[in-house]
Amino acid sequence: MTPGTGVTELLAKGELTVRGRIREASNAALHCTVALEDREAACIYKPVAGERPLWDFPDGTLAEREVAAYEVSEATGWGLVPPTVLRDGPYGEGMCQLWIEPDPEPEPGAELLALVDGEEPGEGWKAIGFAEVGEGRTALLVHADDERLRRLAVLDAVINNADRKGGHLLPAAGGRLYGIDHGVTFHTEDKLRTLLWGWAGEPLTTEATEALTRLKQGLEGGGALAAALSELITAAELDATRARVDALLASGRHPEPGGEWPAIPWPPV
Ligand SMILES: Nc1ncnc2c1ncn2[C@@H]1O[C@H](COP(=O)(O)OP(=O)(O)O)[C@@H](O)[C@H]1O
Ligand SMILES: [Mg+2]
Repeated sequence: MTPGTGVTELLAKGELTVRGRIREASNAALHCTVALEDREAACIYKPVAGERPLWDFPDGTLAEREVAAYEVSEATGWGLVPPTVLRDGPYGEGMCQLWIEPDPEPEPGAELLALVDGEEPGEGWKAIGFAEVGEGRTALLVHADDERLRRLAVLDAVINNADRKGGHLLPAAGGRLYGIDHGVTFHTEDKLRTLLWGWAGEPLTTEATEALTRLKQGLEGGGALAAALSELITAAELDATRARVDALLASGRHPEPGGEWPAIPWPPV
C-alpha cells in the first residue's frame, strides 16, 4: 500500500495485529499490520510504554513527536515522513506509521552517502566532514547533492532533529525518499544533529522558502498546524518551532553548525 487518501484513517482505525519485533530498534518497535474492511497495510507500532526515558527530553513522548514531525512534513507539502498517527494498540498508546518497503531495484549510483579519499566531495556530492576510518586514515564523509535530501535538511532544521542518520533515510520504489525515526525532535534548544550538512550556509531554494512560508502561516494562532502540534508538543516547543521557521526565512539560508565541527549522529549509519 502506498501513501494516499485514507491511509491515516486505516492506520488510526484499522485492527492492529503484531507480526514481529524489530530487533535493532533502540525502543520497542513492532512490525504490524492494520486492517479495516477490505484494506490492509503493514506498519510499525511503537508503544509509549516501550520508550526508554531520555534525560534531555523530559516532556512529552517520542511517539507524540514522531506524529508532530509527520504533521510538519505534511504542511510543507513535501510528504517526507510516512503517514503517522497516534493510537491505542495491544501495548497501549503509541505511534503507528505506514511501513515503507525498500526500493527493490535501486538505480545504479543512487547511493545517498559515501566515504571518499581526498579533500573535495566531487561532482554530485556534498561534504559533511572528515571521519576516522581506522589505521590513522581519515576520509571525507559525503552525501548526495539530491533535492529530496535538501528538502529533508529543511524539515530537520524546522523540527530540530537530533538524529538524522543514514539508517533513517528510506528510499522507496518510484524514486521517493522518506525520513523516519523522529522521536528526538522539537527541543527548545538547538539540538540539530544530522548528516545533511552539505548545504550549510547556502541560500534556501525558492521551493524551500515557499514551504517555510506555508509553515509560518500554519503555525500562526488559529492555524491548522499550530492546532495539531499543540496536542503533541509543549507550548514552549511550539514557540521554538515558530522561531526556527522565522529565523530560516529571515536568514534565507540553510543553518550552519553551531560549533567548529558539524554535529553528526553517532554512529552515522
Ligand atoms: N515506516 C517504516 N518503514 C520501513 N521500515 C521502517 C519504518 N520505521 C522503521 N523502520 C525500520 O525499523 C528500524 C527501527 O526503527 P526506528 O524508527 O529507527 O526505531 P528506533 O526509534 O528504535 O531507533 C529502522 O532502522 C528501519 O529499518
Ligand atoms: Mg532509529
